[in-house]
Amino acid sequence: MNVRILAPYGQPGQRSETVTRSILVLGANGKIGRIFCKEASEAGLPIRAMVRSEDQRESFETANIEVVIGNLEAEFEHAAQGCDRMVFTAGSGAKTGADKTMLVDLYGAIRAIELSEKLTIDHFVMVSAARAEAPLAAPPAMRHYMVAKKVADDRLIASSVPHTILRPGRLTDLPASGKIRTQFSAGDGVDISRANVARCIAAAFEFPAAKNQVVDLLDGDQPISTLFAS
Ligand SMILES: NC(=O)c1ccc[n+]([C@@H]2O[C@H](COP(=O)([O-])OP(=O)(O)OC[C@H]3O[C@@H](n4cnc5c(N)ncnc54)[C@H](OP(=O)(O)O)[C@@H]3O)[C@@H](O)[C@H]2O)c1
Repeated sequence: MNVRILAPYGQPGQRSETVTRSILVLGANGKIGRIFCKEASEAGLPIRAMVRSEDQRESFETANIEVVIGNLEAEFEHAAQGCDRMVFTAGSGAKTGADKTMLVDLYGAIRAIELSEKLTIDHFVMVSAARAEAPLAAPPAMRHYMVAKKVADDRLIASSVPHTILRPGRLTDLPASGKIRTQFSAGDGVDISRANVARCIAAAFEFPAAKNQVVDLLDGDQPISTLFAS
């Protein structure tokens, strides 16, 4: 994978520095987040993991991954300073109520997009959800979550930020097969492993053609390496 080295910058009269800018991962301590951080870091990408509490720090730092403490329900601009790419794979989860869906999945995502516009982030990868474009087609208990995902996706599409929106189906904890499909087909299930989603995030950063694409993701037969190859 390419690690982008940005041009020197600094105040007039200061010695210029050449810096490598990081990928900020929002939701880094989640199941997809942890797999992505570990694999991307091992592949040489500069990762900054945003986690919510100090006790989540150690496992990342042991793997030589930079950590920043931040919460999507509070100010988190500090976490993004010096980053040029961002991943949103946070989620309030099924065990919390609709209030947290609004604060994290919807408003947290929108604030991350607004921050990305302010900081001129180069590439934002959003982990959305399959069928987010049609919330009323979801089971009633899921509709508010789907609305949150759709509104956040629409805000990202309307933004000035180059983006890739990944819309996975039902997540499993199976190992990565390295193969996906992007079309729903009767009888083929709606699952995708979190490990495959993590690899699709990495592929989105690797291939320029991934920018400004929205893709559904399910386990399948297409190598992830070809997903954004052209
Ligand atoms: N479940 C599904 O079948 C499904 C399907 C399609 C898409 N998705 C989406 O896939 C994404 C990730 O899934 P996953 O299984 O990896 O989720 P996960 O394991 O529940 O991880 C979610 C992460 O979000 C973090 N988070 C929650 N509230 C936060 C806040 N206020 N500030 C900062 N971080 C916060 C959590 O932090 P803590 O570790 O501190 O709790 C956790 O690390 C989510 O966006 C989800 O909506 C899920």
